[in-house]
Amino acid sequence: MSNTTPILGSMRFGQWGAQLSPQAVAELLEAALDLGIDTLDLADIYGGHTTNALVGAAFALRPGLRARFKLIAKIGIVMTSSPDNPRGVHHYDLSVEHLQRALGDTLSALDTDRVDTLMLHRFDPHLQPAAIADWVRYKQRQGHVGDFGVSNFDAHAIALFDGHLPVVANQIELSLANNAALDDGTQNATRTRGSTVQAWSPLGGGDLLDPQSQIGGRVHERLQAMGHEFGLDPAALLLRWVASLPATRVVIGSTKIERIRDAVHACEASLPQDAWYALWEAARGKAVP
Ligand SMILES: NC(=O)c1ccc[n+]([C@@H]2O[C@H](COP(=O)([O-])OP(=O)(O)OC[C@H]3O[C@@H](n4cnc5c(N)ncnc54)[C@H](OP(=O)(O)O)[C@@H]3O)[C@@H](O)[C@H]2O)c1
Repeated sequence: MSNTTPILGSMRFGQWGAQLSPQAVAELLEAALDLGIDTLDLADIYGGHTTNALVGAAFALRPGLRARFKLIAKIGIVMTSSPDNPRGVHHYDLSVEHLQRALGDTLSALDTDRVDTLMLHRFDPHLQPAAIADWVRYKQRQGHVGDFGVSNFDAHAIALFDGHLPVVANQIELSLANNAALDDGTQNATRTRGSTVQAWSPLGGGDLLDPQSQIGGRVHERLQAMGHEFGLDPAALLLRWVASLPATRVVIGSTKIERIRDAVHACEASLPQDAWYALWEAARGKAVP
């Protein structure tokens, strides 16, 4: 498996998108495996706390399916609708008590006893790195957790775990629609630690493909022109733009197998340097200095 093979995101599988049945999720997962995708991105909040159970139901339909995937499980967001949120305030909670409960809920929804990467979904200014590291190591010894990762952590936030716990990945928004991480030190800080950048919403959630949207309008003509040059459609070019960055894996969001197939192909190669900058220039609306 190449380390540029995209990660399949589950955010839009259920109530937050395609409303797939467990059967349809099982079929999608098997088709993804056939394409070489072996990593699935999950979060306890997806589908309003229903998508992990949907994936668990899909696993239950096909014996052996769970074992073929590496699971990334994100926890740490408490939504207004979350169970156990009496004040109804959307917030983050990286206390060991919350993480313990959220990991337990995740494992039981997925009907599994282990996740391959446990990821803190959002930075919480109250987080205590030493306490989290102790707890993660305990969970690793128990066999419930493989690696540790973070998501949406900036350069300073990721540094909090230095000397406490290796961070294998930082999952951040990264596309032609939002690439602040390339300028603000987040990408550098992630790479410096030997961590992988996992790029979420590589199509800007679909906005980049919509010429009527502000960002879609800015990149439309360049995508058309380059599409002819490289024989790639706009989505493939956008994905290849992200996949061209070093130590980066794209987290794709489509629920359609033909698009997932195209995404795997798109991520297999890099854009030439000048083509990469030409697209960045179109998205920024100005050349680099
Ligand atoms: N860590 C975080 O905070 C965070 C935040 C957001 C997302 N994520 C992860 O990142 C994953 C991807 O995010 P995303 O869904 O926003 O990604 P995305 O790839 O930017 O957007 C996917 C959306 O674009 C649509 N789309 C339209 N035309 C397409 C085409 N030609 N090819 C592919 N897709 C097309 C898809 O619809 P169809 O389904 O109809 O193809 C889908 O609705 C999520 O599933 C989740 O796992 C993480």
